[in-house]
Amino acid sequence: MLRVCIAQSARSLTRSPATRLAARFPAAIPRSLAPSRIISTQQHRMASNKAAPLKLKNPSLWIEKGGFVNGKWTAGANDGTFEVINPGNGQVLGTLPEMTVEDTKEAVKVAHEALKSWRKTTETERAAILNKIFQIMTENSEDLAQIITAENGKPLADARGEVTYGASYFTWFAGEAVRNYGDVIPSAVKGVQNMTLKQPIGVCAISECCFPNAMVTRKLAAALAAGNTVVMKAPAETPYSVLAIAEICRQAGVPDGVVNVVLTQKHTPDVGKELCENPLIHKLSFTGSTRVGKILMKQASGTLKKLSFELGGNAPFIVFEDADLDKAVNGVIACKFRQSGQTCVCANRILVHDAVFDKFSQKLADAVRKFKVGEGVKDGITHGPLIHEAAVNKVQQHVDDAVSKGAKVVVGGKKLDVPGYFFEPTVLADVQSCAIDNEETFGPLAALYRFKTEEEAVEMANNTEVGLAGYFFTENIARLYRVAAALEVGMVGANTGVISQAAIPFGGIKESGFGREGSKYGLQDWTNIKLIAVGGL
Ligand code: SIN
Repeated sequence: MLRVCIAQSARSLTRSPATRLAARFPAAIPRSLAPSRIISTQQHRMASNKAAPLKLKNPSLWIEKGGFVNGKWTAGANDGTFEVINPGNGQVLGTLPEMTVEDTKEAVKVAHEALKSWRKTTETERAAILNKIFQIMTENSEDLAQIITAENGKPLADARGEVTYGASYFTWFAGEAVRNYGDVIPSAVKGVQNMTLKQPIGVCAISECCFPNAMVTRKLAAALAAGNTVVMKAPAETPYSVLAIAEICRQAGVPDGVVNVVLTQKHTPDVGKELCENPLIHKLSFTGSTRVGKILMKQASGTLKKLSFELGGNAPFIVFEDADLDKAVNGVIACKFRQSGQTCVCANRILVHDAVFDKFSQKLADAVRKFKVGEGVKDGITHGPLIHEAAVNKVQQHVDDAVSKGAKVVVGGKKLDVPGYFFEPTVLADVQSCAIDNEETFGPLAALYRFKTEEEAVEMANNTEVGLAGYFFTENIARLYRVAAALEVGMVGANTGVISQAAIPFGGIKESGFGREGSKYGLQDWTNIKLIAVGGL
């Protein structure tokens, strides 16, 4: 996450006296989210400094020694430490060493050296290692889920789902690796035979965010399948999941130096710059904001690196008058409120036809009132916290701005003054001309806009610089094909709010970036195509 992470990592590690008081006296909690629905509120411990150690069945997956370079755990220059906070209770989950630009250079050198032999392994050998990683991830899925929930806050059931999803990229790319065919191309010139080989790109840099486990595996599995070596910059908010995956790679027999992890919070911009400028790196794959993507693209231009960017979205979700409203509500719940609204493919603007607007907003609000918000490890919790305080403040700004422009709060609308970083799941009706039009909220805020015609809905949906995902619900088959083709996005969910799986090409258009992850196309993004023209035949 490079530059953006540094801003995001500016957590307040101690809570204000007012916040502590509110945690003790839950009567201070807004009425619209009564304690019966916030399971964890009364059970929250005070945000004391250090959390109790996470109890894992396989303690080897909890790594505190540092990053991973050349098959060894290392603190590198050990330039101080940074704290990782559990966003569900505000406690310090652990402390990790700060690594530096010099440590990053060393990791790149090591990856460059390891490339010499790794690129010569056969696709079948690499597929066997990927399948082994899948197997170890599956055997340790409960521990991996506990780590995700501790550092990201999502409910355990969702974290378990993320591990299954994350592991699936290893079996998927094991299958793709052995079918990474080249071509024999008819020649226009007599006596010449043209053919292509798919080859690794070289040392690749990976920087991601949002999904602590599955975003790492979506990139890493494809990179390894194609025969590349990698240097990953772990997000400062969720480094433990990345370290656990590195340990699993080691246990699965990935040779030393093929997978490397650098840790830092304070040097994030400089480490990011190094990954963009280091001439030994030939590809950078980044998931994060459009703003940071533009910075990285400039920085990488000096060495003309191959880039894959999965950047910000502003997904429209259109509910037509002929939609099955109950299915559309379920679609919004799945899409808008997944990970409490913190995925790049979450709906940001929900466009609802005038004729069904009131009915739909009531149905949605009724469903949202049933959410159980709290610490993800607790039983019955359906929705967890946001990743840090700045994320909570951004949702509040979006709500306040929309309300000042005439939107009505149907449910929610406020941050929760409890330990951890919580915002009430919120539905706003009659949203218009406000910050949400153009900015991703990245939080549990469903903003409902009105429209009257299909043309108007499509125009509103496309009226944004970005184009990652778009969704709509309709029972009209002709409209389904028409609107799917008209939406300016990389991925469309028609009558579904869930699109992600290893088999699909994940990625955007416009300022949402370029490149595809997952699917058969995902492997191609990590390979070079080489032409061999054989003459004199
Ligand atoms: C993302 O937020 O980038 C990923 C979400 C997903 O894979 O569905």
